[in-house]
Amino acid sequence: MSENGSLLAVEDVNAYYGESHILRGLSLEVESGEICALLGRNGAGKTTTVRSIAGATPPVVRSGSIHFRGKDLTDVPPDDRSIGGIGLVPEERRVFSNLTVEENLHMADVSRNKSNLIRRNIENPAETVDVNVIYEAFPRLDERRDQLAGTLSGGEQQMLAIARALRQGPDLLMLDEPYEGLAPQIVEDVEDAIDRINNEGTTILLIEQNAIAAMAISDRCYVIDQGEVVFEGPSDELKADEEIRQQYLGV
Ligand SMILES: Nc1ncnc2c1ncn2[C@@H]1O[C@H](COP(=O)(O)OP(=O)(O)OP(=O)(O)O)[C@@H](O)[C@H]1O
Ligand SMILES: [Mg+2]
Repeated sequence: MSENGSLLAVEDVNAYYGESHILRGLSLEVESGEICALLGRNGAGKTTTVRSIAGATPPVVRSGSIHFRGKDLTDVPPDDRSIGGIGLVPEERRVFSNLTVEENLHMADVSRNKSNLIRRNIENPAETVDVNVIYEAFPRLDERRDQLAGTLSGGEQQMLAIARALRQGPDLLMLDEPYEGLAPQIVEDVEDAIDRINNEGTTILLIEQNAIAAMAISDRCYVIDQGEVVFEGPSDELKADEEIRQQYLGV
């Protein structure tokens, strides 16, 4: 926890791609246990924000701070952030197409052997979640253990991408547009999965273009525009704020 108790505290971050200044003094906090939505139009800086939190480059964070469980992440490499409890399911929903569902789920073990953890000097590695627990949560993946991931439907691949991230036992799971390209019926399945994961104790930072869907599932929202926060508050407050919704989300 940070000094004020937030699981994640992003403070006054300025992030760049080359010389383009994208995140402009962006601050946000995610509280333990909540579903927090990060909303904004195309190009607002949502992906840049989660990449900065995960430690992925580009972008380059030139100033500001990011604390996770009270620890400053500035000098912490991306793999160690992941092992330390920050999970990211990226926009591209990467699965290994030529590997089976089961093999995809076991990829989480690779960077986790004990000597590796000791060498990396990670104080509180998140504990990996048993594959069978994952299968209980995702029966469709259970039925398809031996199927090549590349032959799964879009919705199933999204489930697998989420399941892979969950195997790392993240305290914070960041989902970058998990509903993108999915049929409405499948969106519901993914929403149910997100709800279940959250009820079992994982904090969620949800990025969505579909603001209506995101407001429905989240406790709190941030709206960003041109790399700056233009709204933060309870999701119900955003639902009631037609001006902000129209101006920054177009809904
Ligand atoms: N690798 C990159 N190199 C240079 N500029 C980039 C790069 N990635 C993103 N940008 C620019 O940074 C800005 C923010 O992009 P970002 O991907 O964070 O937006 P986003 O809110 O996730 O949008 P979307 O809803 O389209 O996913 C945009 O102007 C984009 O063109
Ligand atoms: Mg994006």
